[in-house]
Amino acid sequence: MYKLIKRENHARRGELQTVHGTVQTPAFMNVATAAAIKGAVSAYDLKDIKCQVMLSNTYHLHLRPGDDVVRKMGGVRKFTGWDGPVLTDSGGFQVFSLAKLRNIKEEGVTFASHIDGHRIFMGPEESMRIQSNLGSTIAMAFDECVENPAEYDYAKNSCARTARWLRRCKAEMNRLNALPDTINPNQMLFGINQGCTYIDLRVNHMKEIAELGLDGYAIGGLAVGEPAEVMYEVIEAVEEHMPQDKIRYLMGVGTPTNILEAVHRGVDLFDCVMPSRNARHGHAFTNEGVRNMLNAKYTLDDQPIDPTCDCPVCRKFSRAYIHHLFKAGEMLAMRLTVMHNLYFYNNLMERIRNALDEDRFEAFYQEYSEKFNKRI
Ligand code: GUN
Ligand code: ZN
Repeated sequence: MYKLIKRENHARRGELQTVHGTVQTPAFMNVATAAAIKGAVSAYDLKDIKCQVMLSNTYHLHLRPGDDVVRKMGGVRKFTGWDGPVLTDSGGFQVFSLAKLRNIKEEGVTFASHIDGHRIFMGPEESMRIQSNLGSTIAMAFDECVENPAEYDYAKNSCARTARWLRRCKAEMNRLNALPDTINPNQMLFGINQGCTYIDLRVNHMKEIAELGLDGYAIGGLAVGEPAEVMYEVIEAVEEHMPQDKIRYLMGVGTPTNILEAVHRGVDLFDCVMPSRNARHGHAFTNEGVRNMLNAKYTLDDQPIDPTCDCPVCRKFSRAYIHHLFKAGEMLAMRLTVMHNLYFYNNLMERIRNALDEDRFEAFYQEYSEKFNKRI
């Protein structure tokens, strides 16, 4: 259940209560696609980097090790050792971005596995069954995420089909939650708004799905090729029609600046591979902008990555040491930088929440939305 605590213009401070713990929002979800955070960060480390929610993927876990295996091991929380809330994405995005030889029909999608090429069918019911086997806290609806730019007619038909799929997801989730041997009988279902960059499609779709009384609402199909300004326009248009008493999640977004802009427009939840992916390439997020740890200027720099950061990495290690680890190709370079970056994101959300609590979010937003983008 989502509890709206307070608002500052469109920005919202709230709480998502789940059977696996309460999430303070706005919040960032830490991506563990195949039940592992890339960069050798385990469940053991997540509490130290202020993680509230872990995110895993239906598509990846269905292919390997198989959701039947995860189910037998007690679900994704027991399997990974992370006992807090977990959100699973439906496969809707991965089927369309990773799988090859797709064939989309009303029933669902047939595609070839990106691992060994074998053919698999996934529709709304299959996605719900897999997510039920994974036993996540929150399941996402099975949708089609269309790349931008897209033709209007294609977007319109796809969006209508995604809405029909959502009704099937809801019915199947209700059935699965009522079974006697379900891992999480309280599994929540979030619907996903689509419609590419067409405002009329977006708004109509949002109005339609808002009536289904789901546990939360996501905005999907963004940050897939359109300019950031267009993404902000879509969020603004859709937000008006999102229920105030339900949590809102912007899928796969984004940079610290994108997140500030979206919170400013009324979004509560985020996930993105950027902090972990960029860290693996030596890019560290800081309050002053992005630092490239491979830069020779750090060879003898005894400062931490970000002197204002109190993460476990910045408390102990110098830029010179991390620079050396990257140069030497040590795994530890990635692990430490991923931990710092994820902490930076989770801590940014905490700073946003504190600013909202103290009615100074607008000032915080003005101060940082430009700063975060700089390369230093
Ligand atoms: N992750 C990022 N964008 C999307 C989307 O549109 N749909 C789904 N299911 N996942 C996403
Ligand atoms: Zn740090």
